[in-house]
Amino acid sequence: MGGRVFITGGSGFIGSHFVRACLNQGFQVLNFDALTYSAVPGTLLDIEHNPNYMMIKGHVEDRAKLEFAFQNFEPDKVVHFAAESHVDHSIDNPIPFLETNITGTLYLLEIMRDYLSTKKQGARDTPFHYLHISTDEVYGSVTDHPFKEEDPYAPTSPYAATKAAGDHLVQSYIKTYNMPATIVNCTNNYGPNQFPEKLIPHMILCALHEQPLPIYGDGLQERNWLFVQDHIEALLTLLPGQHTNNQYNIGGRTTATNLEIVTTVAQILDQLQPRRNKQPYKSLIHHVADRLGHDQKYDLISDRIQRSTNWQQKTSLEAGLKITCQWYLQNQKWWQDILDQGYELGRLGDKSAKCA
Ligand code: TYD
Repeated sequence: MGGRVFITGGSGFIGSHFVRACLNQGFQVLNFDALTYSAVPGTLLDIEHNPNYMMIKGHVEDRAKLEFAFQNFEPDKVVHFAAESHVDHSIDNPIPFLETNITGTLYLLEIMRDYLSTKKQGARDTPFHYLHISTDEVYGSVTDHPFKEEDPYAPTSPYAATKAAGDHLVQSYIKTYNMPATIVNCTNNYGPNQFPEKLIPHMILCALHEQPLPIYGDGLQERNWLFVQDHIEALLTLLPGQHTNNQYNIGGRTTATNLEIVTTVAQILDQLQPRRNKQPYKSLIHHVADRLGHDQKYDLISDRIQRSTNWQQKTSLEAGLKITCQWYLQNQKWWQDILDQGYELGRLGDKSAKCA
């Protein structure tokens, strides 16, 4: 393919997989990343010296720095992953979510608007395209049917509300300024390199440390799970900007309750690394206080992207969970650094509801 891709949040979980995929496709990549707590230094070590890769440390809320990096790089593709993304943290303190997810997105949009109006960009051969990475959580909790792109937004957590605001801003720039942009709303991703605050890696690490597996409430909340590599493939098909719609849902074929996910992870670990006491890992399951305002179910219909691009999920939930467990077992150094820096296993967020 080739071209110049400006990626925000390329050191995070999904972003780092996308950076690698772009380098493999022959793109030049500038990764603009704030390197906040969830960007693990070891994640992109092996590509640091790749001549097609550059990294600039900066917050998207730092408009001057963002603009300087962007204008100098002169990208023809922009992919915006940078976000505060953890619901429990947004319940504890919504302010950073507003700053990164809304203000940061607005600054990026303004910089692109300015960039697109300059002659320099107009003279370039490769068409400009902006891919805005969002979430299924903007639609709120499913009551009767999985959500289509036409369904109204009804976010409930502070995190989801800020992501919804970001999406609305992008839609407004598409309509008002004719910005060549696409919004993608994806379901829960999982896979290698995910920071342990999210359900699956959190449970793997708790299990490996013989800690209780903290299930919020009854654990019957459902999520639609997508292996990160499947998400990356969907994004690569949309990156050139040759599709007809400006918004796409991306989801897996499978929904599962949190209890089902944790039980499956426990069973996989039983096979891969049995406990010393020979008990099954699932005996570590421990129900803790529920998340405030906990959405019962997220699920999407991904027909539109399948029709427009032939994209299909390739990795089943069972296979993806096995790959993920194997990865955490084989990459202890990666997560040991996180633990050494003070990451606490146990119930996240709501300190009053810590594991007994
Ligand atoms: P999470 O990975 O935080 O993603 P999201 O909230 O964006 O869906 O959580 C997935 C589900 O797992 C969610 O219903 C909350 C639940 N959960 C637990 O029960 N225990 C945990 O320790 C964590 C991190 C999440």
